[in-house]
Amino acid sequence: MFGPPLGIATLISVALASPYPFPRHTGCGGKHHEPGYHFRDRHGNFSVESGNLTRYYSVQVPEHYNPHRGYGLIFDYHGNTDTSLEQRNNSQYQNYPASSDYVIIYPQGYERHWQGPSYAVPGINDLQFTTDLLTHIKSNYCIDPNRVYASGKSNGAGFVDLLACSDNGDAFAAFAMASAALYTDTSLSACSKRRAVLESHGDNDTTIPYHPTEAGSGGVLPDVGQWIHWWGERDCGPNAQAAVAVDEADAYNITTYSCHQYRDVVKHYHFAKLDHCWPDAQGDNYDALYSSHNCIATQVLDYTSVVLDFFGRWNLENAPRNVAPSTWWV
Ligand SMILES: *[C@@H]1O[C@H](CO)[C@@H](O)[C@H](O)[C@H]1NC(C)=O
Ligand SMILES: *[C@@H]1O[C@H](CO)[C@@H](O)[C@H](O)[C@H]1NC(C)=O
Ligand SMILES: *[C@@H]1O[C@H](CO)[C@@H](O)[C@H](O)[C@H]1NC(C)=O
Ligand SMILES: *[C@@H]1O[C@H](CO)[C@@H](O)[C@H](O)[C@H]1NC(C)=O
Ligand SMILES: *[C@@H]1O[C@H](CO)[C@@H](O)[C@H](O)[C@H]1NC(C)=O
Repeated sequence: MFGPPLGIATLISVALASPYPFPRHTGCGGKHHEPGYHFRDRHGNFSVESGNLTRYYSVQVPEHYNPHRGYGLIFDYHGNTDTSLEQRNNSQYQNYPASSDYVIIYPQGYERHWQGPSYAVPGINDLQFTTDLLTHIKSNYCIDPNRVYASGKSNGAGFVDLLACSDNGDAFAAFAMASAALYTDTSLSACSKRRAVLESHGDNDTTIPYHPTEAGSGGVLPDVGQWIHWWGERDCGPNAQAAVAVDEADAYNITTYSCHQYRDVVKHYHFAKLDHCWPDAQGDNYDALYSSHNCIATQVLDYTSVVLDFFGRWNLENAPRNVAPSTWWV
């Protein structure tokens, strides 16, 4: 017996393809929420089962969502004790024209923490939650699997770093962090992945100090300048060279690492005065309006547009590959 005419089925799916090619999957044409922001309460509260627990998230679906074209996907992780809505108000992706190309997911941490620091709930596997949620979202929305990204603030940013260092992170093309709480990445050898990484950190961060002199509330922390150099070495080898650009107003320096075809594969904004904040030029995000930190005084950079530019440059085809991690540059 011959099987079903697979060749014809393939041709039909190609004929229905999106404005540009991407690997199609079951979420295309399938069920999804209408355009707009969807949540039921301040926990986000759409749910997926993961690790024997019901886990929650909220979702931002772009205006004019077309279930037959492949969208990028951003997972945006909130800070410790925060909620998915608060992180949405921090990054405010929905206010940027570029976000019309993304479905944005705001996962909710279990008891408002993310895996990594000592204050997180023991046994909660947020890496598995991320993988389970990604599978769930891809079966409900038309997602280009080459354009999946992670961003976050503080504990959420530290989790983005943990994700970058894990096999679960192999499904993600780039990683963006603000004021990252880097409790799980305290040495060069703590992580053996090569990734496109963006981070911003203030010299006046009173929660996760740039140059810590003692342990933080979740454990030992690295020096942020050393940590960014570790990413340079992971991506570009032991002779990685930083390029430093000084902002004209001396508000921040930008450190980048580039090698081979990977231009600015590591990018770091070091702010002279910023506290523990998602930088916001308008001064109207969650940190500026509600946090106890001094976030309103330093409206010098619109970080969300930097993040969207960074994500726009990377996909799984052009991002660093993770074969033979310790010897690839030889
Ligand atoms: C989620 O929503 C349901 C239905 O509205 C509600 O019963 C439940 O308590 C909510 N759970 C959380 C964690 O907010
Ligand atoms: C889920 O619960 C079952 C039954 O208690 C247990 O055997 C299993 O190991 C649990 N799985 C996870 C991922 O915790
Ligand atoms: C988020 O922002 C909206 C308005 O954009 C506001 O109504 C809401 O109270 C804010 N919530 C939080 C938790 O910041
Ligand atoms: C930025 O670089 C300049 C020149 O090297 C230096 O004087 C300044 O302290 C740096 N600022 C920060 C925030 O690192
Ligand atoms: C740094 O933060 C502390 C505590 O919020 C504040 O008192 C101080 O004025 C800040 N310094 C600068 C230079 O912003």
